[in-house]
Amino acid sequence: MHEDIAEVLFTEKQIQERIQELGRQITEDYRGKNVLLLGTLKGAVPFIADLARAIELPLEIDYMAISSYGNSTQSSGIVRIVKDLEGPIDNKHVLIIEDIIDSGLTLAYLVDMLKRRNPLSLRICALLDKERPRAKTVPVDYLGFSIPDKFVVGYGLDYAQYYRNLPYIGILKPSVYGGTEEPEKEHSSPAEKR
Ligand code: PRP
Ligand code: MN
Ligand code: MG
Repeated sequence: MHEDIAEVLFTEKQIQERIQELGRQITEDYRGKNVLLLGTLKGAVPFIADLARAIELPLEIDYMAISSYGNSTQSSGIVRIVKDLEGPIDNKHVLIIEDIIDSGLTLAYLVDMLKRRNPLSLRICALLDKERPRAKTVPVDYLGFSIPDKFVVGYGLDYAQYYRNLPYIGILKPSVYGGTEEPEKEHSSPAEKR
């Protein structure tokens, strides 16, 4: 185990087994449909790579990169598109692939924006969902695991851009982010952390 990790929440094997189950379920639900897997950069990259290979259907993959405005203590919910999809989605069944739902603001924004592009259907698949209060509930259609409101990294999830390459998901030691308090948001920009 990495020395900065206090506890492993999900091993590589547990993650892979759960993804196989999700893949089977999605394969059944989307049979005969024109599917677009929409991954969010950068956190969802390992997840979408493994999940796509667990789905036995013809499908397209595209990515969006979005970044939150504002500082880490104020969740404004204002999101900027850094990279958009390549084409229209009005003839596609879109399945958003996210690594984690934390405040829910990223997904709330994304869903709002994508609905206005009139996809044939729009659903959400998230690997992790934090058990925490939210202003807006996020309707997750496919969920890997519910997790406690702890600071997690690995399997795509970063702290200041690091730890994405860990094959498991773990809780980061508080000493790593210098203090006993948890950082506000694991995905505030590096500039805010350095
Ligand atoms: C993280 C994570 C989710 C989002 C969840 O992404 O990968 O996309 O935050 O947080 P929320 O529910 O509070 O909006 P981040 O913005 O850190 O970008 P990254 O994927 O490049 O790390
Ligand atoms: Mn992300
Ligand atoms: Mg991040």
